[in-house]
Amino acid sequence: MTSERRSSASEPDTEEIPSPDLVSEATRVLMENWRGLYTVPASGLYPHQWSWDSAFIAVGLRHVSPRRAQQELESLLGAQWADGRLPQIVFASGRDDEYSPGASFWRSELIPGSAPVPTAGLIQPPNHAWAALLVHEADPEESRRRRFLDRAYPRLVAWHEYLRRRRSDEAGLAFTVHPWETGMDNSPAWDAPLAAVRGTFGGNVPRPDLRHADVTERPSNAEYEKYLSLAATYRDAGCDDSVAATPFRVTDPGVTALWIRSELALGRIAEELGIEADHADRAAALTEALEDLWDAELGCYVPVDRVSCEPQRFRSITGLLPLIVPDLLHVDELLGTLHGEHFRLGRSVLVPSFDLTAPEFDTSRYWRGPAWFNTAWVLVNGLLECGLETEARVLADTMGARAVESDFAEYLDPITGAAHGTRRFSWTAALSLDLHVRLLEY
Ligand code: SER
Repeated sequence: MTSERRSSASEPDTEEIPSPDLVSEATRVLMENWRGLYTVPASGLYPHQWSWDSAFIAVGLRHVSPRRAQQELESLLGAQWADGRLPQIVFASGRDDEYSPGASFWRSELIPGSAPVPTAGLIQPPNHAWAALLVHEADPEESRRRRFLDRAYPRLVAWHEYLRRRRSDEAGLAFTVHPWETGMDNSPAWDAPLAAVRGTFGGNVPRPDLRHADVTERPSNAEYEKYLSLAATYRDAGCDDSVAATPFRVTDPGVTALWIRSELALGRIAEELGIEADHADRAAALTEALEDLWDAELGCYVPVDRVSCEPQRFRSITGLLPLIVPDLLHVDELLGTLHGEHFRLGRSVLVPSFDLTAPEFDTSRYWRGPAWFNTAWVLVNGLLECGLETEARVLADTMGARAVESDFAEYLDPITGAAHGTRRFSWTAALSLDLHVRLLEY
């Protein structure tokens, strides 16, 4: 179960290891949440396999067991639809009462071209190829022996092709058709596009999530009515991406940044496999298109509502994630925003998910302000991309300490550090562990 890297972590020089509990405790969380072929994000609140969670989890799991990390991604890739999409959720059987909307809501088996297992029809941000490359690098020999990349590469290419062919606007940027697809469900950036969606699900919204997290820490019932209405409209149209089936269409800088980083990773994977491909050119074209989302006055990238054609002019964490993109035009301004009064890097706890000075900022409600470990991990990678190694290490170190102290909380109050959401959350464990091994252990 433990990898060689992990055993080398337990060699004598403990004084130099800043948080000695992190490795063992994070590993324990990952083992508790492992379900044989994949990892649940958390045992109560999220009892299935989630798409971008799985990719983030694999990044940490590779230090515990490279083989399990490969299986984590392979089980998600095994749920790919014929059109190439990787579904937001792959449902575990027999747990339909525990999470809404579940397999009986989606009825994916009735949709032609869906996966051989029950899944949601929506997608999540494309961080998978990036994760696959990192998983390969953890143990290239084992990866080659199992032909991990040979099997993963065509599916990852088909996933990116889905984004390119079915989900891209004229500029080549992908649009999301539901707030869940951005991974940042109730960000204030979605308030206006959601308000413009006319349908509603009615008042009877199942909320099994409230059995596991406080009502003040989750999206509201009014938001859930819209979420379910949008999901039902999409499902009833056979998960078709046409305009009629998608009254919510948003282009998101965070989704785009992860896509670019994953496209570059696909280029490295193709090289490893000796395949000639144009991933670098695609990444360059996407990087150019991303600049359309730059807002000079706010000093960050902003989402654009493709229905109203209005930019959603907020400083939110999604607008900082392009820091991971090489050769970005506006790095200095973006770093200025990250350090300034709106996010206060180094003075906040991790990085708030929303502008600290904005009226919509909320210390505890999901993506309306709390600090999350996955976005902090992305930004550590962004700081490294900018050559800011010391700052990257400081943020990584804080992540490890806060993860242990909060019992691996889902998110934190960015001002006080109070833990919110569920606990023993898989990506909190995985990503803190990853940075500890990569940046702090040696
Ligand atoms: N984040 C969503 C939830 O809270 C699912 O993707 O259920």
